Amino acid sequence: MVLVGSDCLIASNNVSSIDMQEQQLPLIFTSYNDSSELLELDAALLNEAKLATALAYAPYSKFKVGAAARLSNGVILKGSNQENASFPAGICAERVLLSICASLYPKMAVVAMAISYQNEIGKSDRPISPCGVCRQSLSEYQEICQHPIKLILGGKEGKIFIIEKASSLLPLAFTSADMFS
Ligand code: THU
Repeated sequence: MVLVGSDCLIASNNVSSIDMQEQQLPLIFTSYNDSSELLELDAALLNEAKLATALAYAPYSKFKVGAAARLSNGVILKGSNQENASFPAGICAERVLLSICASLYPKMAVVAMAISYQNEIGKSDRPISPCGVCRQSLSEYQEICQHPIKLILGGKEGKIFIIEKASSLLPLAFTSADMFS
């Protein structure tokens, strides 16, 4: 089921006499009931992300996140969140994984990333989506590789969301173009 719009700017009619314009930045994502509805490659990647939750180091939050990336050469890499007693030093699974990808296969496009989790102190029955910092990193990774990253989001069970382009989660993103143009 396709839920809404696209990640481009849509300018509406003027809403006041001072010529201000309301803008909308809608998001497209697709919702599935379970992984049997997914493309085989996507279902397999989500399964890898679920397995990667076991590699998380999350003694503080007890919230184990696993991520799996499929590269344009077909290689699959995995990452998980790695926490620290100094809490801000912890790193989310998505950024651990992007660092692994960039280190092992520099400039190779990440074509899809699946993200799953196991909440040891609560439910794991709905998709989670990347935090703000990870959205920033995912957006720039797309830009570096000039390739969209498809996100496949699902818990241990429950619905699965697919977002075709990670950068659509970060509208009006700050990018290098803002600094150098
Ligand atoms: N976390 C991730 O690894 N990815 C997300 O998308 C959300 C949150 C981690 C950070 C922290 O280790 C734990 O989950 C609880 O916030």
